Amino acid sequence: MTSQPSARRWLQIPIALPPEGEIRAFELGGEPLLLCRVEGRPHVLRDACSHGRTPLSGGRLHGHQLECPLHGGRIDVRDGSPARPPIRRPVRVYATRQVGAAIEVALPDASLEDSGPTGEAEPSRGESA
Ligand code: FES
Repeated sequence: MTSQPSARRWLQIPIALPPEGEIRAFELGGEPLLLCRVEGRPHVLRDACSHGRTPLSGGRLHGHQLECPLHGGRIDVRDGSPARPPIRRPVRVYATRQVGAAIEVALPDASLEDSGPTGEAEPSRGESA
């Protein structure tokens, strides 16, 4: 439990929140990301499966689980945790918040971040309250 305070910046997501259960890919800060809506809440994840780096935005949602299009592994979009093999490592998840009509996502400050292929999951919670 020795982590440095993570610097992050809030950036507006450049696409509209998709309908419930749909997924949209976008890029922000040089990062391939996906946006989905589950039970009314936005979730932003890195758009790369931790198993084979396939874009997860081509997958399908099953409730809170996002199924990878390549081998059928699943990720929980709420925290990026693996939910079904062959995925064993988490996918990075980014916090979101609603600001007026816009949705913002908290991205790590690139100058302070070691940009590994997949990081530990960061809880995705609407920071509205
Ligand atoms: S690349 Fe996603 S489960 Fe294999």
